[in-house]
Amino acid sequence: LVSGPGRGMASLPADACLHVDKHVNYIQSLDTRKDELEYWLTEHLRLNGLYWGMTALHLLGHPEALPRHGILEFVFSCLHESGGFGAAPGHDAHMLYTCSAVQIIATLDAFDDLEAHMKDGRQKIAEWIANLQDPETGTFAGDEWGEKDTRFLFNAFLSLSLLGLLHLVDVDKAVQHINSCVNFDGAYGTSPGAESHSGQVYTCVGALTIAGRLDQVNQEKLGAWLSERQLKNGGLNGRPEKTEDVCYSWWVMSSLAMINKLHWIDGEKLTAFILGCQDPDLGGLSDRPGDMVDVFHTHFGIAGLSLLKYPGLAEVDPVYCMPRDVVHRCLGR
Ligand code: FPP
Repeated sequence: LVSGPGRGMASLPADACLHVDKHVNYIQSLDTRKDELEYWLTEHLRLNGLYWGMTALHLLGHPEALPRHGILEFVFSCLHESGGFGAAPGHDAHMLYTCSAVQIIATLDAFDDLEAHMKDGRQKIAEWIANLQDPETGTFAGDEWGEKDTRFLFNAFLSLSLLGLLHLVDVDKAVQHINSCVNFDGAYGTSPGAESHSGQVYTCVGALTIAGRLDQVNQEKLGAWLSERQLKNGGLNGRPEKTEDVCYSWWVMSSLAMINKLHWIDGEKLTAFILGCQDPDLGGLSDRPGDMVDVFHTHFGIAGLSLLKYPGLAEVDPVYCMPRDVVHRCLGR
């Protein structure tokens, strides 16, 4: 099945289509490639990879393509007694993987399965996350070793809100911290004084959206900086003077969507750029045309196309980067 552009994308080349079945096959094949070096070199990302692959399948309209039981078995095998998740069995617990685990459990509506696996699992996960908030600054560490970054603050807010336990942390203090990370250009960095980066803009604006504090954002200035990320070839970069990359279709566009300025970039040119990053034979998307595909760029390319309302894709939530109907179900909207 090949899904083609619909109305509003009429000027795309006729062969610019999303190769849905190829991408489904590519994602399904990933866990069977255990004789390849790359499989073992990426073990430290396994739980993120499962979230990327599974979410892409849901957006492509093929949620059944990976077995629910097998996914949950793997996710729970990464859960520590402390309530944090590692990237793979035996790996240390970290915020990045805990967030992916909560996203997977939420998407599969598996909170009862979690409780069956670990009594009070929901509460334990939330307490593990809450304990990583720095009481002095309001930001979050990624793990017990203490590296702090606005990515971890966002992961904490995203996970806690899906768990219904955001009140366990000091939201106002975290908002103050985000405000201390804003730069003269209206964009955000990893910490106070750090360079503006659109990945960090996504995490800061995402956390402010979850906190209901978008009033804190200089939306005109930030919208201008984000719209300047589009290059002549239609792709988006993450910072001034950098090259385009499909993953920035997500970090930049989701941020624009949160401040209602998605129309400040040329969606048609970006759609053509993302479609040009597909491997039309073996499936998957790469960072830019002609490069090797991987599941990270496959997921963020498809999520970007969903934000662009590409025909046939399920709608993605710009904050949670999950199917919108799942987020509505979890938050009781
Ligand atoms: C670019 O990194 C991306 C970021 C810094 C944002 C990462 C955000 C998260 C981990 C939050 C979780 C995300 C979701 C979707 C729930 P990079 O290292 O590739 O940057 P570079 O291109 O400048 O090297």
